[in-house]
Amino acid sequence: MVALPYASLIQASEAPVAEPGEYVRVCGICHLERGEGVPGAFPPLDARLGAWAGTEQGRRYLVNVVVNGLHGQIEVDGVRYFGAMPGMAHQLSYREIAGLLNYVVGEFGGGSAAFTEKMVDEIRAVNGAVQSLGLRPE
Ligand code: HEC
Repeated sequence: MVALPYASLIQASEAPVAEPGEYVRVCGICHLERGEGVPGAFPPLDARLGAWAGTEQGRRYLVNVVVNGLHGQIEVDGVRYFGAMPGMAHQLSYREIAGLLNYVVGEFGGGSAAFTEKMVDEIRAVNGAVQSLGLRPE
């Protein structure tokens, strides 16, 4: 059996996938090129994203972080982060946000849930400008 890259698997659906260059330009300036992050400053984007993309609460959190940003203390692999990520809703369309989430979930998270423009729009409408921190899954 041939293993297809995540991107080609979900191209068949409505779900867009960002190009690597777009990820690097929009997210990678902080989270770095392969999502490795900077300990204590920018959290890594890794397997937990794939797990979160597989649950409703996790999807809600991921969309909310990118749309509204995140500020507050979190802990990843025993390292604390107390930073601020800016919300991206003013600079990205919902389709672009879906594409970037699909890229990080698939490439770095090993996940398979596919975000769509509609999903981002719906989750955003329900959440408004709520602080993302309270939505973070355990
Ligand atoms: C200006 C720097 C910056 C940019 C650009 C940025 N982030 Fe972040 N991101 C952060 C910081 C800082 C945090 C942690 C915030 C905190 O400590 O409360 C974070 C947190 C996150 C989290 C939550 C991680 C967790 O464990 O809860 C996700 C998911 C995430 N970013 C994804 C993205 C994606 C996807 C993009 C591109 C659309 C992006 N980020 C762009 C700085 C950035």
